[in-house]
Amino acid sequence: MKRISIFILMTVLVIGLIAGCTAPSEEADSQEGTVEEAGTSGEVNLYTNRHYDTDEALYDAFEEETGIKVNVVKGDSDELIERLDREGEDTQADLLITADAGRLHRAKDRGLLQSIESDQLVENIPENLRDTDNEWTALTVRARVLVYAKDRLDPNELSDYMSLTDEKWADEILVRSSSNIYNQSLLASIIEIHGEEKAEEWAQGIVENMARTPKGNDRAQATAVVAGEGDLAIMNTYYIGKMINSSNEEEVKVAENVGIYFPEKTHINISGVGLTKHAKNEENAVRLIEYLTAEKAQSEYATANYEYPANPAVEASDLLNSWGTFESQGIDLTTLGINNEKAVKIFNTVGWE
Ligand code: FE2
Repeated sequence: MKRISIFILMTVLVIGLIAGCTAPSEEADSQEGTVEEAGTSGEVNLYTNRHYDTDEALYDAFEEETGIKVNVVKGDSDELIERLDREGEDTQADLLITADAGRLHRAKDRGLLQSIESDQLVENIPENLRDTDNEWTALTVRARVLVYAKDRLDPNELSDYMSLTDEKWADEILVRSSSNIYNQSLLASIIEIHGEEKAEEWAQGIVENMARTPKGNDRAQATAVVAGEGDLAIMNTYYIGKMINSSNEEEVKVAENVGIYFPEKTHINISGVGLTKHAKNEENAVRLIEYLTAEKAQSEYATANYEYPANPAVEASDLLNSWGTFESQGIDLTTLGINNEKAVKIFNTVGWE
């Protein structure tokens, strides 16, 4: 087992202790009333804001294995949550997939999800990567890291997120806009760990050290580092994986010229799935969740989409391991959703565009 898995496991243990080791209540799967033999036919409908070929391939493989057809509606997380809410009982969606724990928490908060009853899921995914009521679970883990210019910056100068406000980083920091959920969740985690006041000072300090007004996505920040606009960027690791393996030579060049630094207590977020409250194909939906959290699919997420497996029994890919190991913040991921509003307010106050 690699260190990433151990760290996740350690976090689970710690959170387990804090929570008084309360395991979510599990009920045996009810076998009665199934007209259709599970796995021989039927369908499952999902709303997702993931847009990766890896996902399509996994749904195809699931379909082939089970005979259950996977129908996908793609969209922005917030729009999909709004749509779920609007559709109410009439919704066709059985599952909601987002790229952020905060959004899943929001869906839960609005009463749009229900508990996933599955011993298999509990076995596959550690407690700290699942909702306390099992209304959603992580599928993958993402790390928001520092990416630096290999030719200009000595990584020994880096330490944690808080030290990025040091004046030595004036005009050097590249980061996307605050409307992006990855940044909102990063700030939400800083609020959780350091409190609102320190979090605001941090956001203010980052704005002061920005190399430019935020623009572009995560990849664009790495590109700007290599172009010399600033020495370091805040971004998610899997984009570097995508760039290294890109068919676009420019992207490959960018990825080759940056280093990845895991800040002390690295901020992690998840991409995950929730079972909708009014799911019409609940059994198939649970089966898909079990499939996506089991070893085969988990290993695909790591090797083909460069995300960390949420299932600790699955090793990250060689590429991911080559970036090194990290210790995560160890906070309850629902706090990313709970602190979201405060984070957005702070961003507005400090003028992080
Ligand atoms: Fe992303």
